[in-house]
Amino acid sequence: MEGGSTILELENQFLEKFSSDRNSSYPETKITFRKLQSDDFSRGYYDVLSNLTTTGDVTQSQFEEQFSRIDPQNSETYKIIVGVDEATDRIVTNGTLLIEQKFIRECAACGHIEDIVVHKDYGKQGLGRDVLQVIKELAKINKCYKVILDCSDGYKGFYEKNDFEQKGVQMAKYNPEEED
Ligand SMILES: CC(C)(COP(=O)(O)OP(=O)(O)OC[C@H]1O[C@@H](n2cnc3c(N)ncnc32)[C@H](O)[C@@H]1OP(=O)(O)O)[C@@H](O)C(=O)NCCC(=O)NCCS
Repeated sequence: MEGGSTILELENQFLEKFSSDRNSSYPETKITFRKLQSDDFSRGYYDVLSNLTTTGDVTQSQFEEQFSRIDPQNSETYKIIVGVDEATDRIVTNGTLLIEQKFIRECAACGHIEDIVVHKDYGKQGLGRDVLQVIKELAKINKCYKVILDCSDGYKGFYEKNDFEQKGVQMAKYNPEEED
């Protein structure tokens, strides 16, 4: 609790204000930034995600089952943010922040950024910057001492323009039996 508000309340207050401030500056394309909802499958959620990677053939009921498991409206760990075009009621961008609670640094929190993507028809209009701005602010609300992400060389410039710097080396071990 901070000043009487819970973290979830602070997050939602911030999202409302961010959307309203952004839309005053760009009234020609109004975008509402909010947490993922259980009925977002029909707002073209997978059209957006398909600009990021292979999504597989996910049905609405599979989406809803996963949604219940994650509980993005209330989760203290999963902050899944979408931008919705008010004119079309379609999702046009997504960004995810995972809050990792640690034992080090006096039990600090670390933010992990995932799935930053903008719909292919909405690129180069500042929405990638906007959704990243939202994620960075949510990390502050959650008192993360740092936020980190993995990206390919082609996106380094995008993140550098948005205050990130290259640190260390990414390592990965894929499990072949879990891949497509
Ligand atoms: C990366 C992505 C989210 C950028 O979204 P976008 O809305 O087109 O980007 P923006 O319009 O907000 O760009 C913000 C700034 O970053 C720059 N930028 C955007 N993509 C860039 C890139 N790949 N490399 C370098 N700079 C880039 C823009 O030119 C702009 O610069 P400016 O402020 O000087 O004008 C989008 O290209 C995308 O969805 N890509 C496919 C999904 C993906 O692979 N995401 C994974 C990223 S790890």
